[in-house]
Amino acid sequence: MRVALTGTPGCGKTTLAAVAARHGWHVVDVKAWAKTEDCVVGFDKEDRAEVLDMDALADRVPNDDGSKVLYEGHLSHLLPVDGVWVVRCDPMILRGRLEERGYKAAKVVENLEAEALDVILQEALEATPRVVQRDGTRRTPEALYSAFAGVRLDALKGPELEPVDWSGQLPFA
Ligand SMILES: Nc1ncnc2c1ncn2[C@@H]1O[C@H](COP(=O)(O)OP(=O)(O)O)[C@@H](O)[C@H]1O
Ligand SMILES: [Mg+2]
Repeated sequence: MRVALTGTPGCGKTTLAAVAARHGWHVVDVKAWAKTEDCVVGFDKEDRAEVLDMDALADRVPNDDGSKVLYEGHLSHLLPVDGVWVVRCDPMILRGRLEERGYKAAKVVENLEAEALDVILQEALEATPRVVQRDGTRRTPEALYSAFAGVRLDALKGPELEPVDWSGQLPFA
């Protein structure tokens, strides 16, 4: 089972991945993996972030071998996987997390907008119907893990989306 763990930066992907690792998942940090595969194709100065060649990485994703593999990163839903976990976070809380990270104001706003507008969810749904969405805002990482792991991806008939709506918080400044 190959699962992409995605979500807007700061939503709690890496924290959740650490819990998943304790539950037997092999976690692949997509950015670190891209470096070892020579799939970093540039540096976005504006974004202060590496640009990854996701198409090249997608070609390197192994077939499902029955083991539990979690591809963690905010672009992981672009990889050929058997399902996608989308972690969400209330922009009200997300803002503090991103500011603490030292993101500049424009980048904080850009990410809060993306979260409020469901950008990553929409991208994931364009790739596959096997999408599970859970809101991590008021869950411990363990409880959030259970909320995802409790869904049998291979039995999913369609997306399994916990509803969130933060559009009323728009615009951000
Ligand atoms: N379920 C949670 N409850 C409370 N705080 C969390 C939770 N998940 C993550 N955090 C905190 O939010 C921040 C961002 O989490 P992180 O896992 O690094 O996000 P991401 O990998 O999606 O960018 C960290 O300070 C982390 O401790
Ligand atoms: Mg992370």
